[in-house]
Amino acid sequence: MKKIMKFIKKWLTVVFVVLVIGVVGFAIYAYEPSIELMPAGSQPNFEPEVIEQGRLMAAAGNCASCHTAAGGPPYAGNYAMPTDFGTIFSTNITPDREQGIGGWSPAAFLRAMRTGVDREGNHLYPAFPYNHYAKMTEADILSIYAYIMTQVKPAQVAQKPNQLPFPFNQRYLQAGWKLVSVDLKPYQTDPQQSAVWNRGAYLVEGVTHCGACHTPRNVIGAEQNDKKFAGAAVDGWSAPALTADNESLLPWSAADYSTYLKTGATRLHGVAAGPMAPVVHAGLQKLPDEELQAMGVYLADLSGNGLTEAAANDIIEASLEQNKPRQFYRWDTGERLYATACAACHYNVEQIAEGRPDLGINSAVHLHQPDNLIQVILDGLDNESGITGVVMPGFRDALNDQEVALIVGYLRATRTDKKPWPELTKKVSEIRDLYP
Ligand code: HEC
Ligand code: HEC
Ligand code: HEC
Repeated sequence: MKKIMKFIKKWLTVVFVVLVIGVVGFAIYAYEPSIELMPAGSQPNFEPEVIEQGRLMAAAGNCASCHTAAGGPPYAGNYAMPTDFGTIFSTNITPDREQGIGGWSPAAFLRAMRTGVDREGNHLYPAFPYNHYAKMTEADILSIYAYIMTQVKPAQVAQKPNQLPFPFNQRYLQAGWKLVSVDLKPYQTDPQQSAVWNRGAYLVEGVTHCGACHTPRNVIGAEQNDKKFAGAAVDGWSAPALTADNESLLPWSAADYSTYLKTGATRLHGVAAGPMAPVVHAGLQKLPDEELQAMGVYLADLSGNGLTEAAANDIIEASLEQNKPRQFYRWDTGERLYATACAACHYNVEQIAEGRPDLGINSAVHLHQPDNLIQVILDGLDNESGITGVVMPGFRDALNDQEVALIVGYLRATRTDKKPWPELTKKVSEIRDLYP
């Protein structure tokens, strides 16, 4: 008995020592020093070309979308980001010295963008997509710094406290998350590929952070690298796969991608709505055409779909055919509702017109999830979704859950040969309550 006690004691001591070493080791690993504030007025002068490059990079990175609260001053933070773990508020990144990052040195800014650590040495949450910004060159990151320091108006807005329960409010634990979850290496050129492909990959993987929404996340909220761009749920919407698994009936060419990213729509796929709308309208749209073309080249390579033109034409013909009113009484309530509420606008006869999506080939009707279709029916599309200035009314107040579900079910059954979506009425009700 004594022997056993002795053994257990010894064993516990070993466990304890290992634990202490582990904790101390982790603390050393997680520790990041504070970087001193710069004295007021010590900001270097920036070249106009650098500031201009920073303006483009900040647009491509959608910094303003996440760092501006509705109605608040640009870049002053407090934009609420609900996550599975609680609500995180973005920070004030205006050049205000007290509330913003006015006193941050270029080195402090670079460290935040590359490793997700703030000036004082605190680990930042991955709601800030630094894992993508880490792919950028130092020059591109510092151009954003130059842009913010010179062009953004300082705003004295204090940050709202995050609403995160223990242990998620312990920032040092983020260091462990980084250890297991992210690759923070800058973008590596692929010598097998063209310069244009590499430029596109650099932009897609890095500053424009497409994967933050289009790559599914694991239980600890990290992007799953083995399922890159496989599609994911975002704020009650589906961000479709950008791989060969993309559900669009018609393939995406490089030109389709660049048109979509520039204008917010393509004639043969659909429009950029919901969380994708600001990605285009507050960001990518501002990039020069060559940059968007390069992104198109890389994206088309990711999704590569070998449909022939003749096969694509057959699909378009079949979709147009479906629009024709049937010559007998409309028995199906879904069809009747569709004819009354939607067909007047979604009606193409000989060819598919710009700004008049043909629902037989629209992604929203073909996705695994009905979320996007339901969202668009409930709340329509404003000026800044899809094509600028082209709108669709919402039907939130005109149709009840069951009616919306009937239209959605009707489109799925007649415009696709895919499985029906289950429990549609419940789904409509859930989505309706997301943004009451
Ligand atoms: C998807 C939303 C999102 C986007 C896009 C985004 N940020 Fe942020 N950012 C955040 C959040 C949220 C935080 C706060 C994280 C935290 O508190 O841990 C943050 C923190 C920061 C910080 C640290 C500031 C501080 O005071 O600690 C910097 C610097 C920053 N972001 C710069 C940028 C820049 C530059 C861009 C554009 C290239 C950008 N962010 C784009 C969400 C975003
Ligand atoms: C903030 C989240 C978010 C980011 C960042 C984002 N997307 Fe999206 N994306 C979405 C959502 C949600 C949709 C579905 C919108 C819709 O159908 O109207 C979408 C739709 C798309 C589509 C249409 C796909 C289809 O089959 O219809 C393409 C193409 C696309 N995104 C490409 C990109 C690229 C390229 C990037 C990076 C430059 C990007 N997205 C960044 C959320 C995002
Ligand atoms: C008054 C005209 C009008 C009516 C009525 C209308 N739509 Fe639309 N719809 C549009 C326009 C225009 C667009 C494209 C908007 C853009 O590009 O910004 C659109 C876009 C869409 C999209 C594409 C969304 C995407 O992400 O690609 C879907 C799906 C859609 N409508 C479904 C419907 C359904 C279902 C109804 C009936 C409940 C309906 N619409 C009623 C005009 C209309």
